[in-house]
This record gives sequence, structure tokens and C-alpha cells, in this order.
Amino acid sequence: MPAPLLSPATQEHEKALAAAAALRWVRDGMVLGLGSGSTSAQFIRQLGAAVQQGLKVSGTATSLASENLARQVGIPLLEPRRGLRFDLTVDGADELDGQLRLIKGGGGALLREKTIETASNYLLVVADSSKLVPVLGDFPLPLEVVPFTLPWVLDAVQALGGSPVVRTSLTESAEQYRTDQGNLIVDCHFGQITDPDALGPQLQAIPGVVEQGLFLGLAKAAIVIQHGQPMLLKP
Ligand code: 5RP
Repeated sequence: MPAPLLSPATQEHEKALAAAAALRWVRDGMVLGLGSGSTSAQFIRQLGAAVQQGLKVSGTATSLASENLARQVGIPLLEPRRGLRFDLTVDGADELDGQLRLIKGGGGALLREKTIETASNYLLVVADSSKLVPVLGDFPLPLEVVPFTLPWVLDAVQALGGSPVVRTSLTESAEQYRTDQGNLIVDCHFGQITDPDALGPQLQAIPGVVEQGLFLGLAKAAIVIQHGQPMLLKP
């Protein structure tokens, strides 16, 4: 069954609810990974309010946008360094299935997200009800691609049965979208992704693909709003 359509106001409300539920997982002294996108932004704002009230945490953001927001709301930030690990990362998703396999990268932050989440002891996904799907693939799968390699990446995606679309910037419609690293995003339509465990490594092996948006075996739990209430899902 397709995910229910939500009004923008309901979706925003659900994101705030999921973020509030995730905030209850945070303890004094934790080192946090801070996700990207609008649900993560809700979490960062709520976390900032808790920091103003005395909560002691620090964190690293998965995008420049989240880093700027975290700085604005007063969350102490840590630069990347060897050995840095995260007690808890809270991040959104574009789609998740019942095994907590994710499509991420709708906001273009997949490389930093996968880096931080691989260095995390616990990844908690926060999502409104529209994100939970029976099978991944309605949402096009993002790839972060080195610009020089683009033509051959497009050929390779097509050879794997996908329809690749180079993402354009929302603000300057003729311009190709650039990630925080200056790379391109290619959104790949594969239809239903019935075997993500096979597809992920095939995409990752294409020369020029820096990262692909299937996050498999990383999420330990998800807070998804169902019938207006936060529900905890585990793989
Ligand atoms: C960014 C992401 C986001 O987590 C994903 O796009 C979800 O965003 P939102 O919470 O705005 O729906 O992967 O790269």
C-alpha cells in the first residue's frame, strides 16, 4: 500500500513529534551525530533548547546546513578527527522499510551522513508516517558523483536497469546541484528495489560514485509516527 499522503502541516507536526521522542534518548555527556534534513533540523532545534537549559552534549553535523543550525542554537561542535565516535546519531530518512533499510540523500548529505553513521554506536532514525514503506524505491536513489565521471556513471546506472537523473539546484534551475563536497547528485529510478543488499554494492563499485544512498544494517531503531503517536521500530 502506498504511504499515506500528508498535508505539509501534519507532516511538520509529525516531524516535531518524532524529534521530541528522540530527544528523550539523549543523556548528559553524550557525543552526538547530528543528521540533515527537515526532521533532523527539528531535532537540532529541540536539542539546542535543552542545551540552553543545561544539557551537556557535543556533536558533529552531517552537513554544512546542520552545522550552521547547531551553531546558531548553541550546540558545541566537534571537528572530524581520528578515533572520534558517536554515542548516538539522530537522522531522518527519505524511505525506510520494516527491516530499517533506508534510502537517504534527498537533501544531498548522504556522504557525510554515512560517514558519521558508520562511526556511531547507535543510529536512531526519526521519520513522519509517509516514510515507512513496504518496499524501497518510490523515492529515487541518490548517488554522489565526482563531476568528471558523470557520463560513465549514467551509462553504468542504466546498464543496471536504472533511469538516472542529474539533480538540478532548486534555486538556480539551470544549475546542477552541488553537494557540500562540490560533487553532483544523480537520482536513480529503479522501481521497486527488491534486493537492496545486491544493488548497493553494485552502485558503490561504479568508478566515480563517492557514495550511494542505500543505508543497510546501520539503523538500530527508528521512531516513526503512526496514527499520531511515536512508535519505536527495531530491525
Ligand atoms: C539528507 C537526508 C535526509 O535525512 C532525508 O532527506 C530526510 O529529510 P527530511 O527529514 O527533510 O524528510 O538523507 O541527505
